Amino acid sequence: MELAYLWPVTAAIDEHGRLTIGGCDVAGLAQQYGTPLYLLDEATFRDACRAYVAALRAGYPGESAVHYASKAWLNTAIAHLVANEGLGLDVVSGGELYVALRAGFPPERIHMHGNAKPRAELEQALAAGIGQIVVDNLDELALLVSLTAHRSQPQPVALRLAPAIAADTHAHIQTGQATSKFGLPLAALDTAAGLLRDTPGLRLVGLHAHLGSQLFDLAPYAAAVGVLLDCAAHLRERYALTIAEINPGGGLGVAYVSGQEHPDVTAYAALLGRTLAEGCARRGLPLPRLVIEPGRSIVARAGVALYTVIATRPLPPSHDPGAATRFVHVDGGMGDNIRPALYGAHYTAILATRAHAPAEETVHISGRYCESGDVLLHHAHMPRAVVGDIVAVAAAGAYTLSMASTYNLVPRPAVLLVSDGTARLIQRRETYEDLATRDVPVLLEQWHVPPHRPVPANSE
Ligand SMILES: Cc1ncc(COP(=O)(O)O)c(C=O)c1O
Repeated sequence: MELAYLWPVTAAIDEHGRLTIGGCDVAGLAQQYGTPLYLLDEATFRDACRAYVAALRAGYPGESAVHYASKAWLNTAIAHLVANEGLGLDVVSGGELYVALRAGFPPERIHMHGNAKPRAELEQALAAGIGQIVVDNLDELALLVSLTAHRSQPQPVALRLAPAIAADTHAHIQTGQATSKFGLPLAALDTAAGLLRDTPGLRLVGLHAHLGSQLFDLAPYAAAVGVLLDCAAHLRERYALTIAEINPGGGLGVAYVSGQEHPDVTAYAALLGRTLAEGCARRGLPLPRLVIEPGRSIVARAGVALYTVIATRPLPPSHDPGAATRFVHVDGGMGDNIRPALYGAHYTAILATRAHAPAEETVHISGRYCESGDVLLHHAHMPRAVVGDIVAVAAAGAYTLSMASTYNLVPRPAVLLVSDGTARLIQRRETYEDLATRDVPVLLEQWHVPPHRPVPANSE
C-alpha cells in the first residue's frame, strides 16, 4: 500500500498490518476515544508550513509571508500551531476571528476576507486592530469608509480583484473568473482607488486575487500576478498609490487518491517569485511583499478520519466487473465530511488493523446520514470489511470538520493531535447536551393547546 503523499509524513504500518500515525496506534485511539474521530498529525502540519516559508524565501528576492487560510480547518490548537510557525492567518468571519483572537493569535498577523462581511464583523475586525481587511466589493468599501471616518490610525486594506482567469477546477471552488461572486471587477478598480485616495481612515496596501482551490496547473497563477501588477502600475500612474503587497491567494491542490498529482510547493513559489520580480522590473515597480494564503495544502494531508463499520448491505449482482458488491456503512459521513456529497470529492481509505491485506472487493463506503448521497467513497477497493473494523480515510484535514454540520443531530467528532507517540485531545466530541444548549424550551403549561374540535361530516 502506498503511503506517500496521501497519508501524514509519520504514517507507518507495523508488522501486524496496523496503521500508526504520529507514533500512535490508530485503531487503539479509535477504541479509546470512540469514532468518528479525526487525527491531526503535528509533524505533517508543521512541515507543510515550513515548506511554504522556505520555498518563498528561496524563490522570491523580496519580503514574503505565508498566511494559513483558516477556513480549511481552524480550532484553538491549529491557531497555536500556525502562530508558533510564524505564519499569518486568514479569516473569513467573525467566528474565525473570535477563535483566533481567543487563542492569542497576534491580530496584526490576521487578514480578513469575505464577499459579504456583515457590519458587525467589520467593526469586530477594526476594534481588534487586525493587520488587513481584504475588501471584496464597493459596498463593503463604502461601509468601511464610514466606519473609519474618525480614525487617527488608518486601517490597512487590500482590494480583492476578480482577474477574469478561469482556473481548471470544480465550478464550486473556482473563484477568479469574471463571473465569480468574489472580488471587485477590474472595471471597478478606478472607483475604488478614487475612494481610497480620498479616505484618510483607510490605507491601501495590497492587491489580491484568489483563483480557486485544488489547482494543479501553475500557469494561471503567473497570469494572476501579471493582472495584479498591471493594476498596481495603473494605480501608481493614475492615483500615485503605491502597492506594497501582492497576494495571489491560495489554492494549490493536494492528492486525495493514489496516482493523483502532488503539488510542488517549491515550483509554485519559484514561479510566483520569478513572475513577480520580473514583472516589477518590467514595469519599474519596487518589489512588493509577496503574500500567499494556502489552506488545503497545509492541512489536508495532516488530517485522518477514523470511522467504525456499523453494518453492510449487499448490492444486486452486476455484469460490470468494476461494480461495487456492497455498501459498507460507517458511523460518520456527510456530517463530518460533506465534500463527496457536495462536489464529488474522492478519498482513499484503508482498514486500520489490516492495512497490508490485499483488496478483495469493491464497495461503497456509505455514511450514516439520511441522504442517499451520503457516500464517503464510491468504488473503494478494500479487504473484506466486517462490522467493527476501523476505516481510516486519508487527506481528511481540509474542508471537512470546518464544513461539518449536526445534520440528523449527530454530534460532531473529537479531534486528537498526534505527535511522537502521544495523542492529545484538542477538541472534544460534541455531546447531546451541546446539541440542545441553544434551544429555548417551551414549557408545557405555557402552550396554548387549542381545544379539540371534531371535523363535521360533509365539511367541504
Ligand atoms: C481568499 C481565499 N484565500 C485562500 C483560500 C485557501 O484556498 P486553499 O485551501 O485551496 O489553499 C481560499 C479558499 O477558498 C480563499 O477563498
